[in-house]
Amino acid sequence: MSTTAAAEESRKIVKEEVFELDGRKYTPDALYNLSPGVRRLLDRRILQESSNPLNLLKRRIVDYVHQTYRKPGNRSPLFTICESEPRVVTTYQNFDSLLTPEDHVSRRPSDTYYVNHEHCLRAHTSAHQHNLMQSGLDAFLVIGDVYRRDEVDRTHYPCFHQIEGVRLYSKDELLGKKPDGKNVAELFSTAASAATERSPEKQEKHTLDATKAAEIQLKQFLENLCDELFGKDAEKRWVDAYFPFTHPSWELEVFYNGQWLEVLGCGIMEQKLLESAGVTDKIGWAFGIGLERIAMVLYGIPDIRLFWSKDTGFLSQFAGKMPGEDVKYKQISAHPQVIFDISFFLPSTVQFNDMTSDVYDTIRTVGGELVEQVKLTDEFENKKKEKKSQTYRIVYRSHERALTKEEVNVIHKQIEQSLASSFGVTLR
Ligand code: DAH
Repeated sequence: MSTTAAAEESRKIVKEEVFELDGRKYTPDALYNLSPGVRRLLDRRILQESSNPLNLLKRRIVDYVHQTYRKPGNRSPLFTICESEPRVVTTYQNFDSLLTPEDHVSRRPSDTYYVNHEHCLRAHTSAHQHNLMQSGLDAFLVIGDVYRRDEVDRTHYPCFHQIEGVRLYSKDELLGKKPDGKNVAELFSTAASAATERSPEKQEKHTLDATKAAEIQLKQFLENLCDELFGKDAEKRWVDAYFPFTHPSWELEVFYNGQWLEVLGCGIMEQKLLESAGVTDKIGWAFGIGLERIAMVLYGIPDIRLFWSKDTGFLSQFAGKMPGEDVKYKQISAHPQVIFDISFFLPSTVQFNDMTSDVYDTIRTVGGELVEQVKLTDEFENKKKEKKSQTYRIVYRSHERALTKEEVNVIHKQIEQSLASSFGVTLR
């Protein structure tokens, strides 16, 4: 099949009798518009792959939030992490009914993948706000893959990943209590006056005091998170925004690598959403962060499609890293890899641990630019014969050309000789 024919094929919509996802079944109808390409993306779950940079970034954010916010009593993490919500949601949960074509939001109904008239793939993690509040949670992060019909280019892909945060406050939690047990202010406005009207500053039901108190908590939370990711010195700015499920709403931008980057959207949650989830005595804030955009600038990943790469030249750069580590991606070659193993016995007096970094150094020194990855893949000791053996896998790849097995073999032999003469290993 030609590439264009393959692209055509992956766009063609094949309506299944039953659509099954995350252990639930749905009946597609005329609105069904999932391409086989998107169907395949649903099965991959790259956020769960430990070598994927998105997984690294997710752990960094979750670790930070857990370390920073604890329950007052038992000091356990305040935020519940919700990572396995079903990815098909109702159009109601997806907030479709709140969207109008004139809405200045990043999401339009025409961007959505529908399973049928009632169900779609979540277009944002905000789709879980309702159910999680209804289940009684006051502080939670929802993490996962979201889907939007989009052209594919360097910064757009039909699947990307978000973290949603929600925090609800009772009157005492948000406004504190005076020694006499009374609160200094109220959450909800009761006065039959201008205070009960919606204004750019607040919703009709909220007092200005409560809105401002929640706004300060929200902005502090997000500025601290942003400092954690981009460093304290990175300049930040708040921009007024519009989202149909929050009011007032803001976006946070960070000046990083010479440009302003939109990091997240947030706001004070619409009180009618809390009420519809059965929460009548609290007010809350919410935010949504797109992980790809942040990972691209933090790790220097130039193309969103790379997150889906299975190339070990890409994944090995993130594998085994600590979430707080500074990782910068080095462009991998488009040419094919050539993989060779090297196995040897260690001199009897040398321990495994003494050997490994010297071997890495020698392989990199002799192989130079052509060595993309080196990994210790096997180690064993035959106690009776007093023999210790190691195997290393070397991935060779050039930025300039496709390497032949023959030319790699020449370099590989040089590496073997160098290891034998420098460390007295016996090749197997
Ligand atoms: N769901 C929004 C989006 O995908 C992001 C967002 C904005 C989430 C504001 C929120 C919020 O929770 O309060 O564009």
